[in-house]
Amino acid sequence: MRLLHRHFIIGVTGGIAAYKTCELVRRLQDEGATVQVIMTEAGGRFVSALTFQALSGRPVYTDAWTSPSGSGPANGMPHIDLSREADGILIAPASADFIAQLANGQTESLLATLCLAREIPLLIAPAMNRQMWQNAATQRNIDTLRSDGTAILGPSSGDQACGEIGDGRMLEPAELLQHLVDHFGPDSGAREAAQFPNIRGILQDASVVITAGPTFEPIDPVRGITNRSSGKMGFAIAQAAARAGARVTLIAGPVHLATPEGIVRIDVQTAEQMHQAVMDCIERTAAEIFIGVAAVADWRPETTQAGKIKKSSGSLHDIRWVENPDILAAVARRQPAPICVGFAAESGSLDDLRALLPAKRERKQVPLLIGNIGAEAFGEDTNQIMLCDANGITLLPPARKLELAHHLLTHIATLRNRPR
Ligand code: C5P
Repeated sequence: MRLLHRHFIIGVTGGIAAYKTCELVRRLQDEGATVQVIMTEAGGRFVSALTFQALSGRPVYTDAWTSPSGSGPANGMPHIDLSREADGILIAPASADFIAQLANGQTESLLATLCLAREIPLLIAPAMNRQMWQNAATQRNIDTLRSDGTAILGPSSGDQACGEIGDGRMLEPAELLQHLVDHFGPDSGAREAAQFPNIRGILQDASVVITAGPTFEPIDPVRGITNRSSGKMGFAIAQAAARAGARVTLIAGPVHLATPEGIVRIDVQTAEQMHQAVMDCIERTAAEIFIGVAAVADWRPETTQAGKIKKSSGSLHDIRWVENPDILAAVARRQPAPICVGFAAESGSLDDLRALLPAKRERKQVPLLIGNIGAEAFGEDTNQIMLCDANGITLLPPARKLELAHHLLTHIATLRNRPR
């Protein structure tokens, strides 16, 4: 059961290799995964939706306008909702035409739209005639997808359905399964950790409290104010801190992220709840390090209306806003205070950021303030950050959030070892 609790979207596009995908769907379930099959119209000409429905135990989606009966996602937007529930998307087979659509961000089918609207990893298993594969247009498209971060699995070489011999055969179900296990199986985290061997033990047994994600400030039972923070940076830091040997408590606002291994997670909604949870944790765990990554709402409605505010009442105009507690400042004021690290998500250029970070660090009274261009980083897997401490400013090159988290913790570990 190497893929227990994993959920995949398997996209089937037009190609005879679709018959192999039936076997893959079976095997994925044998490994404990659940599978949602989505087919393009051309895919459905090779293997019927009914076959995949029987194999996956779920109705198959084929187009953006009709949901399979009894299975529609909550808000009737399958191109958004389906990928939010999944760990990854594998397109198998990926036809030359579908690859061209992906490379150009086209949205001709539900499957293509879903790939464009996703936040999760995309893997494709090309399958086509050898000349279509070798064609410069296909190769250009493959290069584009690769540089966009899509994993290209295969193709392999051999006999083709058209009678020719050459590159373009879709990988076998067992090989595709192995790729999914490599990407999403129990060892996938360990492999990433192997890229950062120097982090092991650098925060051994230190208690670290981290906030992540947005907060949600309710206006009435159905409405509220929040922001676009995904929580990915905070979760990456929590994951890296656990690898560094720390005892990590992660206090998360409303996010859709899995809890990294080996950490304690506390979910909250509002800034006040986050404030309370942070203060309790700092006290209870005798925290040595506090990293405030959360995008805490600065304001909240003074009162939450008990019933849904009627559109006709016009009373949204009457909401009185009160300022939320500054959690980072409150922790930094403690005596003794943990090493406090703040994040500043700003708009503007890197030069603007460089100019404002030192004063903000002074104002926040924290030894280390991390700056990034907020609107660009929200929701992405990569980011560019600037470290501002008493020695000045260091700009790190753009990188994956987990990689940045490792650099950041290395920096924090040096601060911790410096006499204060
Ligand atoms: O002042 P600004 O909101 O830009 O500061 C951002 C930093 O302060 C982040 O580290 C954030 O987690 C923290 N913060 C906080 N409580 C607030 C507002 C911001 O802890 N109410």
